[in-house]
Amino acid sequence: MHPIHAQIVGCGSYLPDRILTNADLARQLDTSDDWIVARTGIQQRHIAAEGERTSDLAAHAAERALADAGIPPSDVDLLIVGTSTPDDTFPATATQVQAKLGMTRGAAFDVQAVCSGFVFALATADSFIRAGQTRTAVVIGAETYSRILDWTDRGTCVLFGDGAGALVLRAANGGGEPALAVGNRQRGILSTHLHSDGRFRDILYVDGGPSSTQTVGHLRMSGKEVFRHAVASLVSVAEEAVAANQLTLSDLDWVVPHQANIRILDSVGRKLGLPAERLIATVDRHANTSAASIPLALDVARGDGRIKPGDLVLMEAIGGGLTWGAALARW
Ligand code: UT7
Repeated sequence: MHPIHAQIVGCGSYLPDRILTNADLARQLDTSDDWIVARTGIQQRHIAAEGERTSDLAAHAAERALADAGIPPSDVDLLIVGTSTPDDTFPATATQVQAKLGMTRGAAFDVQAVCSGFVFALATADSFIRAGQTRTAVVIGAETYSRILDWTDRGTCVLFGDGAGALVLRAANGGGEPALAVGNRQRGILSTHLHSDGRFRDILYVDGGPSSTQTVGHLRMSGKEVFRHAVASLVSVAEEAVAANQLTLSDLDWVVPHQANIRILDSVGRKLGLPAERLIATVDRHANTSAASIPLALDVARGDGRIKPGDLVLMEAIGGGLTWGAALARW
């Protein structure tokens, strides 16, 4: 019998209604649709409505993921939100999502690893399940980056958008659900791989915070340097994840990278020797939604029939910190 592990039993996402196109931005900034598309692949982004908070986006995504799983919120005993745009300094956004879902039991907390937040949150939930402490977990990536952008800085404000995505995980074996399998291959999270290196703080950060400036601050980035680190880290952590499972890159059905820039995805795909059609790209429609980008992309690819039960899916991300990581799963 396999040891306890986490199976993916539901997926959902939510995007705010308002769409901001490159043409809209070109009316308020010295930029153009041509520049943004050529340098990033981004065509549009969704922007949260006034008063719409990260916890609202997260709660909608979680409701959809739980409905997809056919699991009531009362069954959830762990809820983790990966976000770097929390509703408030405290309490954790996750507790507000918990209240919005009507959950009165279990634990809820945030994980802060910027654009790697979803992978870090997924790894945390996976560990709780493997330790036998959690049976049903909701893992959410949710962001309202529109609130921390300097809308006069064309080098950053054109890159980001708002949104949320969620997965529901359930323990298999060890008193949990019977393990789902495709043939003799076990389904669920196979392994997770997390890294960080605080020496690179200054290439991607927010120039505000409760303990430093007592302001919320704005995102600041050295784009070229982050680009270079992004490609190198996403390549190395993909290799690490497949090697840890005695697999090869050609075994992967899908790679779902953090969606920052189509040129980063193309470059990672080339260096890994993967055909472009095996990389899921949603950056054109969603822009960079930080911790929300992977679960948003998963929900698109699952919804359009690309990701199917039994597929081997690599999720990987890099973000401020720097942080980077991967999760390998059989869907
Ligand atoms: O999620 C966290 C991870 N974040 C990332 O992965 C972002 C990584 N970095 C990038 O995606 C790219 O570096 C950017 C898209 C941010 C920038 O692309 P780049 O090819 O590195 O351009 P650049 O910053 O070197 O700028 C080239 C030129 C500059 O003009 P000059 O100095 O050559 O005259 C910029 O001022 O493009 C100019 N520029 C723009 N022009 C029109 C910068 N932003 C814009 C803009 N519209 N929005």
